[in-house]
This record gives sequence, C-alpha cells and structure tokens, in this order.
Amino acid sequence: MIATEKTVEQEQPISNIEWDVERVREDFPVLSQTVNGKPLVYLDNAASSQVPQVVIDRGSKYLQEEHSNIHRGVHYLSQRATTAYEGAREKVRRFINARDSRECIFVRGATEGINLVMHGYGRKFVGEGDEIIISAMEHHANIVPWQMLCEEKGAHLRVIPINDAGELILDEYDALLNERTKLVAIAHISNALGTVNPVKEIVARAHKMGVPVLADGAQSAPHMVVDVQDLDCDFFAFSGHKMFAPTGSGVVYGKRELLEKMNPFQGGGDMIRTVTFEKTTYAGLPNKFEAGTPAIASQIGLGAAIDYLNSINREQAVAYEHELLRYATEKISSIEGVRIIGTAREKASVLSFIVEDVHPHDIGTILDQEGIAVRAGHHCAQPVMQRFQVPATARASFAFYNTREEVDTLARAIEKVIEVFS
Ligand code: ALA
Repeated sequence: MIATEKTVEQEQPISNIEWDVERVREDFPVLSQTVNGKPLVYLDNAASSQVPQVVIDRGSKYLQEEHSNIHRGVHYLSQRATTAYEGAREKVRRFINARDSRECIFVRGATEGINLVMHGYGRKFVGEGDEIIISAMEHHANIVPWQMLCEEKGAHLRVIPINDAGELILDEYDALLNERTKLVAIAHISNALGTVNPVKEIVARAHKMGVPVLADGAQSAPHMVVDVQDLDCDFFAFSGHKMFAPTGSGVVYGKRELLEKMNPFQGGGDMIRTVTFEKTTYAGLPNKFEAGTPAIASQIGLGAAIDYLNSINREQAVAYEHELLRYATEKISSIEGVRIIGTAREKASVLSFIVEDVHPHDIGTILDQEGIAVRAGHHCAQPVMQRFQVPATARASFAFYNTREEVDTLARAIEKVIEVFS
C-alpha cells in the first residue's frame, strides 16, 4: 500500500478569508454547465483557466467595433485598435511592475516567450563550452529550447536536482554556477508538482556571478502577485490562457538593456525601421520583437483579464486558493491508496496524485464521468515523472472560483475509482 501523507500544515481557515466564491463564480459563464449529467467541476486550471464574461465582452467589442490592424493605419479604426493594444501592454506593465511597458513583449504564450529569449539572447551570447542551468522540475517548454540551443552551439545543459518533496536542492545549484554559465532558466511554480521556487534567491545567487535569469511564470502569474523588479529576474514569461484571458495572448518581460542587445526573434513587418536589399535596420522596443500582425484581440483580452483581476482583490484570491489547496491536500492525501506527488513546503494551486494500481488516464476518465475535469499524463514534464518513477499523475489544479464542495466531490470520485479497481 502506498503511504498517505499529511503535507501542508494547518493554516488560516477558509472562513477567515473574505472571499465570496459563489459571487465570483457568476463571472465565469462556463462554470454553470453540466457534464455527463453532473455539475461541471473544473480542476484543470494549470492547463487553461476559464474566462470571465467581461473578458469575453471585451473581445467581442473589439471584433464588433474596432477590428483593424495596429500601428499601420492613420484611419479611425486602426487608431482605436492601436490604443487598445498598447493600453493592454501598459496594464501588463503595471500587473508585473515592470519599469517600462517597452520591456513587455507580446507573444503567443510562455512557450513562445522562452523561445524568443533562446533565439534573441541564446543564439547571440551562448557559445561552445558554455552552460545553461535549468532544473529537474521544468516544463518541456523550458527544457527543449535550451537543448536545441546547446546542440547548435556545442553548449551544455546543467540540471539542478530536486529532493523527494519536489524542492530544488539549492546547494547543488551553487555548485553548478560557474564562469561558463550563460543563463539560468527556472520555473517560478512547477506545473507538475506545484512547488513554488525561491526565484528571488536564485536570481541573487546568479547575479553574483553576472548570470541572467529567466523565470517561467506560466503558473505563477495567475496564482501569485508578481513583481519583476522585486524578483530582479532578467526575463519573465507567462501565458494569457492560464490567467483568465484568451489563448494566443502572453508576454515575455525582459530588462531593457538585455532586450536592446538581443537579436530580433522573427523578421517581417512592424519590426523594422528601414529595409533595403542590402540591409535592414530594426525598430526599437517592443516592436523589434513583434514581427507581423499579432493576436490583437487576444492581447486586448489579456488587458481585460488584468482589469478583472485588479477588480476582485488579488491578495484575497491568492489567500483563498492557498487555503483551498491546503484543504484539498489534507482531504485527498487521507484517502487510502492515494499518494501525493509533490509535497514541497511552498506550493500553489497544483495537486498531483496517483492511486495505487490505477493508471492516471483511468482516473481521469472516471472523474470525467462524474463531471470533473483534471489532467492526467506527464504534464509536459517527463523528467519529473522519471524523478518520481511514475508513468504519469492525475492533477487537480485550482483557481479562486473553485470551492470546498468541489474538493469533496473530487474526493468522493477518487474513492469511486478505488472501488472500481479493487
Ligand atoms: N502547461 C500546461 C499544463 O501544465 C498545458 O497542463
């Protein structure tokens, strides 16, 4: 039998947090449907979160009243679209507390943001024998681009190991940092384990060696208050579709002095200053990194999602989610036969688990019959599965619109899974 674990200490009870979850749920139309005849219990927020009506309305308004290309037209609609798109950039700047909105580059999501840094920074500044440090809990999006770079340049990937709780072993990180290190690329929150990494500390140690740090913020931007100046990270990438905005929206923040030194990512319209057949000169920030027509409606939607987050008391939302994760961890880990994968002291939003003798895909299928959406698989983090010697996990991931009752429904459904397979 797999041992059950009590993983999170008793903290502030949910009743002390002023959070009207039923009111908040009304903002998200998708949540009120039934699936397989049961009320939908949406616990796949780490893959994609749901979109509030105000964000849907803002996207519709753009399409109905403003649809046009940005930066290029002198006409009325183009100017409205440009104002809305650049307005979203300023909202992003405030949301992550960047110094300058030109440091916020719009991309399709965190994956594209990391690839932008790989091409723009990596291909210019990483050479043969150089090293890039990542960790053993990275999403494939923060592994594969660096592997591709290392292969091209003859550089080496170094990996910070993790302990059995799924925490970084920081002494090993210190041992990896050296004069050949050209970049540290690290998840802020692990999508597979939920571990919150001490990015500020990681950055401070790298900076002592003059090494820049990229934080993959795909899971942290929706679940923490992020301040890039406080973290002092050099790059920070995140996706809109995990933070209540449409797919196709996202941001990579970079410190201005680094972005200015980097190569452009893609070539095309809107990223140039002058073009002749002999030579092209590039536009300034942020346009240098935004070739072609971007996802205008989606990025305006991201701005609307930030407005929404600002309207609901972010600190309370984070505290509520934290307490919900504590409750879920206690409840699910007490079921005999369940093992939690990822028991770090600092966690957010994610509860990965396995059930003895049941494949996670079977768990996912039975939960779906109960109207519960979880993700089952390797979560695009195969090295994490290898580290914990499991083929896959089932993962419940929470947002501030999930409830204790939904956790209870999940627990009952897991007990049903165990019954079916016993
Ligand atoms: N990265 C997303 C996840 O963790 C898709 O599910």
